[in-house]
Amino acid sequence: MIASFKKDIEKGLSSSPKTLPSKYFYDEIGDDLFVKIMHSEEYYLTRSELDIFTNQTLQIIKELQLEQSTYFELIELGAGDGLKTKQLLKKLNEEGYKFDYLPVDISQNALSNLKKSVNKELPNVSIKTQQGDYFKVLESLKNSKKPKAVLFLGSNIGNMRDNIATQFIHNLGRNLNANDKLLLGVDLIKSAEIIKPAYNDSQGYTRDFNMNLLFRINKELGGNFDLEQFKHEPEYEESEGIAKSFIVSQTDQDVHIKKLDMTFHFAKGEKISTEISRKYNDEIIQDLIKESSFSLVSKLTDSKDYFANYILNRN
Ligand SMILES: C[S@@+](CC[C@H](N)C(=O)[O-])C[C@H]1O[C@@H](n2cnc3c(N)ncnc32)[C@H](O)[C@@H]1O
Repeated sequence: MIASFKKDIEKGLSSSPKTLPSKYFYDEIGDDLFVKIMHSEEYYLTRSELDIFTNQTLQIIKELQLEQSTYFELIELGAGDGLKTKQLLKKLNEEGYKFDYLPVDISQNALSNLKKSVNKELPNVSIKTQQGDYFKVLESLKNSKKPKAVLFLGSNIGNMRDNIATQFIHNLGRNLNANDKLLLGVDLIKSAEIIKPAYNDSQGYTRDFNMNLLFRINKELGGNFDLEQFKHEPEYEESEGIAKSFIVSQTDQDVHIKKLDMTFHFAKGEKISTEISRKYNDEIIQDLIKESSFSLVSKLTDSKDYFANYILNRN
């Protein structure tokens, strides 16, 4: 992990404009902050998707064409704390479905917490966690020929640029079998008034989450970022439909990172891009899947039409 962390940080801070990969948000501190974000007033995404998972659980099971008599694997990419998924697990368990729950996450801490909470709340559910980057885990999916339902929730896909997301879905399709399913949870395009605060909550959790990247570089790679000299800055243009998070240098400064043996210069006002969160509509989703082996089965939305769960069939 440390080797790829070093490599990615060096690459991101050496490029122009500078970037830091969002997957490194998630260490123990980042996981904790993300749970706080999910419960914040402004972060409607989790509440909206939870609304679907709570009020349309049987519909999800029906659209995924899961059968009580046939064993299947329920795979979740970037599972986090599994808050929404646990609603589905609970119903599947109550109704006597036979399955293994296989969450994948880059954060071992998130997976350990998830395993503990599933074991406690749903002791009959079999959970087998897998730590790793979901881009790398895709290949291993094809080792099993069991029927699969893959969950990719929380609009995680929106953290990828469209070309990467298209490639990701294409690869996912290549590693699944005919009639396997994908449930893709995405945030829908809506006004900036609703979206902007979700990335800049009044408690400062999104700020701390973003800044945790610098804190982590200081802690793990011996960086000397002065966090006071950088600022969290989110942006959202309705016409583009992409929320963007930046860290902006407040002054002209140099930062040395011991374990890279490198010094990076930041100009006053220079932005480091840390995350994008794309918003979707039916047309964009159709575009993402058009080169893949998936076709759209159905779409479930929450009561406010803020969020959608698209269910796709592997042809
Ligand atoms: C925004 S959170 C969403 C969690 C969950 N999907 C939900 O909807 O609540 C993203 C999760 O994906 C994980 N993650 C981010 N990038 C990843 C990657 N490249 N590979 C595997 N997991 C990743 C993070 O550790 C985190 O738990």
